[in-house]
Amino acid sequence: MFGSILRTLTVGLVAASASVAAVQLPPHAPRGTSEHYRRTPGQVVTKCTVPNTVALTFDDGPWVYLYDVSKALIAAGGKGTFFFRGGADGCIYNEAQAKRVKYAYDKGHQVASHTWAHLNMSSLNWDQLHNEMWNVEEAIWKITGAYPSFVRPPYGEYNPTVVEAARARGQTIALWDFDSLDWSLDADSIKKRYKDLVDSRPSNVNALNHEVHQHSAQVVIPYAIDILKKAGYKLVTLAECLGQPAYQFTGTPAARDASWTCEGKATKV
Ligand SMILES: *[C@@H]1O[C@H](CO)[C@@H](O)[C@H](O)[C@H]1NC(C)=O
Ligand SMILES: [Zn+2]
Repeated sequence: MFGSILRTLTVGLVAASASVAAVQLPPHAPRGTSEHYRRTPGQVVTKCTVPNTVALTFDDGPWVYLYDVSKALIAAGGKGTFFFRGGADGCIYNEAQAKRVKYAYDKGHQVASHTWAHLNMSSLNWDQLHNEMWNVEEAIWKITGAYPSFVRPPYGEYNPTVVEAARARGQTIALWDFDSLDWSLDADSIKKRYKDLVDSRPSNVNALNHEVHQHSAQVVIPYAIDILKKAGYKLVTLAECLGQPAYQFTGTPAARDASWTCEGKATKV
């Protein structure tokens, strides 16, 4: 009993001091040396663990359909998870894009990393991996005040070096167990995939979608939310469906300054 209280206190103190240290980190501090990077061990996650939950996840934003997805989820009493990219297809620091990131976070959705430029992480070396990971983590941290704990590697591609880099950064590698295939199919076909999924009654679902496809965001997702809810599932964030914290720490957002740029951040390959 006393031991467990002591342990809780100690963990709390370590967490508190780690977040203070982390907030004081200069933007380009040496990677992997600060305590906050090691807060959670690296882990590759495919399935949710909490019964009766569904994590609807959305890759490749922040894009304009984020608002449609968010509204549909919130109206249903649910939350989603957004894996943002940094420098590809527009810059995450642009006013409109940064606003979407902040909006998603403020609505209670989980915001996470999809890496900077959507490169194949299995083909990158150690330094390149950290550049691809850090730059998005930094952007999400500055825009929301929260430091993400989850990264989804583009194409789901990873190797042992990627796992080590994620571990060093306190990141969990988030894959999925249901691919809506919204990047290649029409709305009716994707809806059928969701219908078949619900009919198969899985204990829980970690579903991959993309917020950059209008038919997916505006037609499929409202339908999927409807049938999932009717089947009794709770629509939660990926962190919640795993019972894990979404962030390594949270604080106040940074003020926009000259560092809010995508200039010079591209990984040299
Ligand atoms: C990523 O790179 C690895 C290693 O070079 C390769 O085996 C794999 O096919 C690549 N994947 C994609 C999607 O390009
Ligand atoms: Zn992607």
